[in-house]
Amino acid sequence: MELEQIPGVGKSIAKRLRDAGFVNVETLAVTPAREVKEKAGYEKLEAAQRIVEAARQALGCSFITAYEHWEMTKRRLRCTTGSKALDSLLGGGIETQAITEFVGQYGSGKTQLCLTLCVTAQLKPEQGGLGGNVLYFDTEGTFSSNRVYQIAAENGLDPGQTLHNITLSRIYTSDHQMFLLDNAFEKCAEENVKLVIVDSVISHFRGEYLGRETLADRQQKLNLYMHKLLRLAEILNLAVVVTNQAQSDPTPQWGNRQPEDRPAGGNILAHASTTRVWLRRAKGEGKRIARVFDSPCLPEGECVFRITAKGIEDAPEEEKAEKAESQE
Ligand code: GTP
Ligand code: MG
Repeated sequence: MELEQIPGVGKSIAKRLRDAGFVNVETLAVTPAREVKEKAGYEKLEAAQRIVEAARQALGCSFITAYEHWEMTKRRLRCTTGSKALDSLLGGGIETQAITEFVGQYGSGKTQLCLTLCVTAQLKPEQGGLGGNVLYFDTEGTFSSNRVYQIAAENGLDPGQTLHNITLSRIYTSDHQMFLLDNAFEKCAEENVKLVIVDSVISHFRGEYLGRETLADRQQKLNLYMHKLLRLAEILNLAVVVTNQAQSDPTPQWGNRQPEDRPAGGNILAHASTTRVWLRRAKGEGKRIARVFDSPCLPEGECVFRITAKGIEDAPEEEKAEKAESQE
């Protein structure tokens, strides 16, 4: 909805808001007034509060009925990962209007999964995809166009066209990461983006904020970032996939003397991600195990998949059966 449709907003106010990154009424309605004040340069918080409230009223989104909520959830789509076992663990694939987090040690397959999703998201919904384009935020410099080309070709798709449909953004700092997400609302709406990937969401935050005294700042910023991602997912009915690193937990659990790995990012990521999946290596060529460990609606469970030339695939039946013994 155009900003000029808000009562009292003329061309000049609309321009000021657009220049500040509030490209439409929807974006304005879901932004905290404090942020609108800063970005659009309002002197008083009240002025920003008034404009945000007017945007909400224009959309009629202050309250919705449970029925409207139900209709919204019915619009959710699912995207295949390439592995039926992993799809079914996730309740049918990666979901839109939600954030799915993949966490694991280096080499556990997080980036390979993201690169495969770049291809599968472009499939039509009847083929298991989202029928849209992809926006990829690469914070670690590990995006590989060669690998996407290979995955597309191995799956019988036009590799050149597949690459054309992916917008890549190399992120250099956490500030840069925040800034580019603000611009993503417009890009995603204009370019029919149905999947946003952040690989990884945590690396710059971990690298820049060192020491206990910076932790509160870091977590506040990360929280804001995750909430913006979720808004993007809900407003545009797209899927968001983030990857997260594992960190070792020096306090051994009772009965377990080994230090255990846990996801980085603490409670903020735990609360903000809709579904969390732990990836780990298993014995056997390209074999990996995925475990859902935090989801509001999925049972906890595990499955095996493989990383192959095609990207992510199901493991052959006999390998699945060996799963229990083969974990490293
Ligand atoms: P970090 O980013 O370092 O934390 O790791 P990650 O979890 O992103 O790991 P990644 O997805 O990069 O997985 C790397 C593993 O994928 C390698 O050890 C290989 O086993 C596998 N792999 C990478 N590229 C290919 C490929 O082209 N073909 C196949 N078959 N396997 C690959
Ligand atoms: Mg990676």
